[in-house]
Amino acid sequence: MLCDNITRASDGTLLFAGQSVNALADRWGTPLYLMDEDRIRQNCRMYLSAFRSAFGEDALPLYAGKAAAFRQIYRIMAEEGLGVDAVSPGEIGTALSAGYPAENIYYHGDGKTDQDIAFALDHGVGCFIVDNGDELISLQEHASARGLRQKVLLRITPGIDPHTYHAINTGAVDVKFGVPVETGQAMEFVRAALGMKNIDVAGLHCHVGSMVFDEDVFLRTVDLMVGFMADVRGELGLVFRELNLGGGYGVRYTDDDPTADIPARIGEVAARLRSRLSEAGLPVPRFLMEPGRSIVADAGMTVYTVCSVKRIPGYKSYVITDGGMTDNPRYCLYGSAYTVLHTAPRGKLRAIFDLAGRCCESGDIIQPAISLPAATGRGDRIAVCTTGAYNYSMASNYNRFGRPPVVMLRGGESYLAVRRERIEDVLAQDL
Ligand code: LLP
Repeated sequence: MLCDNITRASDGTLLFAGQSVNALADRWGTPLYLMDEDRIRQNCRMYLSAFRSAFGEDALPLYAGKAAAFRQIYRIMAEEGLGVDAVSPGEIGTALSAGYPAENIYYHGDGKTDQDIAFALDHGVGCFIVDNGDELISLQEHASARGLRQKVLLRITPGIDPHTYHAINTGAVDVKFGVPVETGQAMEFVRAALGMKNIDVAGLHCHVGSMVFDEDVFLRTVDLMVGFMADVRGELGLVFRELNLGGGYGVRYTDDDPTADIPARIGEVAARLRSRLSEAGLPVPRFLMEPGRSIVADAGMTVYTVCSVKRIPGYKSYVITDGGMTDNPRYCLYGSAYTVLHTAPRGKLRAIFDLAGRCCESGDIIQPAISLPAATGRGDRIAVCTTGAYNYSMASNYNRFGRPPVVMLRGGESYLAVRRERIEDVLAQDL
């Protein structure tokens, strides 16, 4: 199986985290997001122990909430001792309302408004990750008006193309995020920040992309970042206290994807960083990264009920479900691959189908050309694996469908973390 939390019972029915997927669908309804809490915690502990053994006790993984943000996730992060990367007042507010400590929040975003900046300062967010010079000026004004000295990391663009898909490539020189090193603008950015009384420049941030499997990408990033740190010390006399290398480790969506050995990769990053820093005569800063996908993706599964099976002789066949691009837009946006499983045996004969949703557009495909039992029919349950990241968080109300609930699986039990959106919820903002 794709991941060890996906198994089959002796009668062939599908189990997730040891629980019957059909029984969960009967109890909670479909479409349904399942989240294996035990797996999330295991992934958090894997990161924490890899960070501590590679970098020492003060190194901290920050969970990138954009992958999946709801209260219960932040309660888990607080309990597991991870920091949090947030990109909006909505993510910050969700974390705070779950009791997550503001000082452990790192606040991202390339388009922070005055209201956003004020919101984060007034709620005591620990660190701003400043994306650009305009934000820096505005943050200085707001911090000064409040008599604060705000800790920041400066986001720079090291100029690395991680060769994943275009929409999630964030480290190349001409992307919209951060300030490029190559053009000399990053040095001016640091200089400007150093000249601001209410800004405490703690360190640097970069993020080169998502779904990265190429081990070399993070090592080249280390080289570039240390090169820039040495230039800054030479030119401005500043030695950074923190270094944040962003997120990006890839996960297995299909059997064709490799398995990333994250502790081993982090060990290599640590070795490279120590050797480059010692060549440059720089101390080892506190080390941070922001994993999102690799903490929650394999903890997720989405379950649908088949509404209809449509066979168009000489063309193709569709399995049409009660979900679609509203709960998983990733194939529509990125052509992302997924593993799709029938939840119960239906004979040996198989056929190829496009797994479609019920939105009113022909591009509403969850996954094309998948193999399912030929006898698949209305009322059957279909599971899409590895949907824990960027599914619930990217869901929409297109066609006024409500978002599915999020049900957590823990120690053989299930409980509701986010309830199903009803028509009243969708209507709540209409006057
Ligand atoms: N830090 C920053 C600054 C980021 O931009 C991201 C992802 C992360 C951390 C977390 O990266 P991860 O560990 O999850 O790869 N919606 C797309 C993914 C967009 C990623 C955006 N940034 C998808 O569904 O594949």
